[in-house]
Amino acid sequence: MLVLGIESSCDETAAALVSEGAKVLSSVVASQILTHAKYGGIVPELASREHLRKIEPVVNEACQRARVVIGDVDGVAVTEGPGLIGSLLVGLVYGKALALALSKPLVGVNHLEGHIHAVLLENSMDRLAGKPVEEPQLPAATLVVSGGHTSLFLVEAGRSPTNSCPVFNYKRLGHTRDDAAGEAFDKVAKLLALGYPGGPVIDQLARWGDAQAVDFGRIKMKGNPLDFSFSGLKTAVLYRVRGTALVAEAEQRRAWRQARESASADELRAHCSQATLDLIASFQNAVVRDLLERTLAAADAAQVDSIFVSGGVACNSLLRARFAEGSRARGFRVFFPSPALCTDNAAMIAAAGYYKLQAGQLADATLTAYASFPLGT
Ligand code: KG4
Ligand code: ZN
Repeated sequence: MLVLGIESSCDETAAALVSEGAKVLSSVVASQILTHAKYGGIVPELASREHLRKIEPVVNEACQRARVVIGDVDGVAVTEGPGLIGSLLVGLVYGKALALALSKPLVGVNHLEGHIHAVLLENSMDRLAGKPVEEPQLPAATLVVSGGHTSLFLVEAGRSPTNSCPVFNYKRLGHTRDDAAGEAFDKVAKLLALGYPGGPVIDQLARWGDAQAVDFGRIKMKGNPLDFSFSGLKTAVLYRVRGTALVAEAEQRRAWRQARESASADELRAHCSQATLDLIASFQNAVVRDLLERTLAAADAAQVDSIFVSGGVACNSLLRARFAEGSRARGFRVFFPSPALCTDNAAMIAAAGYYKLQAGQLADATLTAYASFPLGT
């Protein structure tokens, strides 16, 4: 079964062709970073317009790269939420029209479900490539951590009551009460004039900083201990900057960055004091420690064997190293997608959609997009 996945929930227009939910034939992602970078964050109206310009060329390119024609597709999977409503609608309406015109089945996929399936897809791809892989076990404790989301789920395997095909059930164990972790990375980078998106820049620059220099303390949560909160940490960084020489330094950096199109991490580093590098290394350390501790607590409580981590922030090198060490020490196995499948892409939507198509969970012409679209119970 050849599935066309379409993803447009945020600032990436993406299309992918995935066969049998396991083999990525093509995955095309048109990033809008250059459009939004000068504003230091996503401008929703500009995002919708870019999606409109890109959706058709991106789908065509996905077909060309996979060496298929659109009529070869057996089903279409589109992201139905959560995300920016204008952005979502572009991909959703395009996918719906395509499915109708081709008389092919259509399924709607929750963006978070897509991120979770990226883990299983990566594993299948490695297995098909003959790499020695460990088998992820379900149920699994899963952290989805990105610019828009920070949530913990328990992912369970089930069977469709109608045709007994595999289906997945999701229990939401915790979620952020304010900022997502990626959003905190982006806002701290904006405050310090390090560029957008902030996560990759901070990841690279933090290597030259002392992660113990600033003790941010642990993030305390009242109520559900598996919930997250990153806005206090972001404000703590602001207080460390306000009224200090770091403000003038950030202003100089802003002026220097505005005068050029792009800056490598090495060049940026030359424009950062040791105090700035120490601050961002300590901030990153505090975020990663919090994500790890709550994920391990979730895995303990649910008594699972496997931990999945996905979403843009799962590209973070410190996070990957700490999760690998922390999980091993506690007897869990941890699974990440490769960085290209961690950030927004349509292969993960096609992979999640494959199971829905098989289980007959089809959408009809009333399928629509939802800005807020919780996953699971
Ligand atoms: O999954 P994604 O592409 O989009 C959303 O669904 O939000 O994630 C984008 C987020 C951004 O906030 C970006 O700063 C963050 O992922 N990110 C990282 C890294 N790479 C991307 N955060 C920390 N370290 C990274 N290496
Ligand atoms: Zn995402």
